Amino acid sequence: MKNDNSFRLILEKTLQHALSHLENLDSKSVAATSTLSELRLKLNKQLNTEEFDAQKVIDELVSDTEGGLIGSAGGRFFGWAVGGSVPATLAADWLTSAWDQNACLVASAPAEAVIEEVCGNWLKDLLGLPAQASFAFVTGSQMAHVTCLAAARNSLLSKRNWDVESKGMNGAPQIRILTSSEKHGSVERAVRLLGLGIDSIISLPVDDEGKIKIAPLFEELKSNKETATILVLQAGDLNIGAFDLFSEIIPVAHNYNAWVHVDGAFGLWAAASEKYKHFTNGYELADSWVTDGHKWLNVPYDCGYAFIADSKAHLNSISHRASYLIHDENARDEINWTPDWSRRGRGVATYAAIRQLGRKGISELVERTCKFAHSLVTKIGELDGAEIIWTPTINQGLVRFKNSKNNATEADHDDYTEMIMEDIRKSGEAFFSGTTWRGKRCMRVSVLNWLTNENDIDRAVAAVKKVLREK
Ligand SMILES: Cc1ncc(COP(=O)(O)O)c(C=O)c1O
Repeated sequence: MKNDNSFRLILEKTLQHALSHLENLDSKSVAATSTLSELRLKLNKQLNTEEFDAQKVIDELVSDTEGGLIGSAGGRFFGWAVGGSVPATLAADWLTSAWDQNACLVASAPAEAVIEEVCGNWLKDLLGLPAQASFAFVTGSQMAHVTCLAAARNSLLSKRNWDVESKGMNGAPQIRILTSSEKHGSVERAVRLLGLGIDSIISLPVDDEGKIKIAPLFEELKSNKETATILVLQAGDLNIGAFDLFSEIIPVAHNYNAWVHVDGAFGLWAAASEKYKHFTNGYELADSWVTDGHKWLNVPYDCGYAFIADSKAHLNSISHRASYLIHDENARDEINWTPDWSRRGRGVATYAAIRQLGRKGISELVERTCKFAHSLVTKIGELDGAEIIWTPTINQGLVRFKNSKNNATEADHDDYTEMIMEDIRKSGEAFFSGTTWRGKRCMRVSVLNWLTNENDIDRAVAAVKKVLREK
C-alpha cells in the first residue's frame, strides 16, 4: 500500500487545494452556495469496506465540500466575531498535525510543552495580566470558562471547608454567580457543566453603554455577603463590545471575598493596543480571565486561553496523575492545567501568530479592524432604510433595517432586518449574522479578520446598498 512518496504526493496536492481555497476567497461567494441536501448527496457515501486511494479521498473531499464552505477565512466575513488565520499560524497548525504529538505531558511532546510555557508568558505580557498567573491552552473560551470556574469553585468551597474535588456539589455550600444581563451563553453552560446550576446566576442590569450597573451590583454583594460568590465581568460583550468598570468594581468585590472572572473572548485583545487598552484598566486585579486565539489573534480553531491568578486553585481543580504516565516534576505537564487528556499541540499555532505579528503587529491588527468596523457601520448607516443602533467603540457595531411601509411596527422592522441580512448573504458579497439587542432584531457587524481591507468594506457596503434598493 504505502510507498516513500505516500506523504509527499498527497501533501503537495493538498497544498494546491488549500491555496486554491485561500487565493480565490476574493472572487468566491462568502456564504455557502449549496443546500444541505446537495451536500449530503455528495458527502454521504456508502461506508467503504475496502481501502480507498488516499489522494482520491482528498480530491473528493474538496469537490464534495464545494459550495458548503463559508468564506470565514477571508476579509468579507463579518459574522459572529471570528477571525481568520495569519499565514505563519496556518502553516504552524499544519505542522502540528504533521508532528502529531500528544501535548499532554512533557514526556510525550517536549518541544510543544516548552512552546506553551513560552506562549503563556507572552500572552500574559501582551494582555497585561499578572506574570505569576497560571494558564491553560484549551479549545476556546467555552472550555476556558469551565477551567477558570472550576478553580473558582475549588477555591471558594475550600475556604468553607468543603473539598469539592472529593465530595462534589451534593450538599456543598451554595455558590452564587453575579453577572450582567449581557453575559455570553458560554458562561451559563460552564455553570451548568460544573454543577453550579443556572438558577444560581443572578443577572444584573447594565447602563446605556452596556456596562454592568455598579449600584445594584454593590447592593447585591452586600446583601448576601456570607454566600460564596463568583462575579463574572465582561471585557467586550458580544453585541457592542462593552467593558465593565474593572478598577471600580474588582476591589469592592474582593472586599466581599468574591472570585472575579473576566470574559474577554475577543475583547481582552484591546489590552494589546495602546489606543484601546484603557478599556481594560484594572482588569489585572481579577482572579481569572478567558480569551481566544481563534478570534482576534487570527489563529485557526480550536484555540482558547484560560488564565488564573491563584495557580494552586487551578492545579487543585484540574491536575491529574496516572501510574502509566511519565510525569515531570520540574516542568509543565499540560495535563495538570487543561481539562483535556490527549490533545494536539495547541500552543504551536499561537507561537507562530505572535512571532509573525509581534507586539506592534497585534496592536495594529486590533486598531485596523476597529477602524474598519467603524467605517463599515457608519457607511451602512448612511444608506436609505438603514439605522445605526450601535456605533463601534471597538470592533462591534449594530445596524437595523427599517421597513418603509406605512405604520410599520417594530416586529415588521425585525422581520425586514432578518430578510435584508439573508439577501446580503445570498448575494455572496458579505456575511453578517443577527442578534436581538434591547428587544430589537439587529445586524451584528464584527470585524476581526487580518485580511479585511478598504475594498472589502466598500464591497460589503455596496452589497447592502443593492439589497436595500432592490427590496
Ligand atoms: C463574549 C464571548 N464569550 C465567550 C464566547 C465563547 O467563545 P468560544 O466560541 O471560543 O468558546 C464568545 C464567542 O463565541 C464570546 O463572544
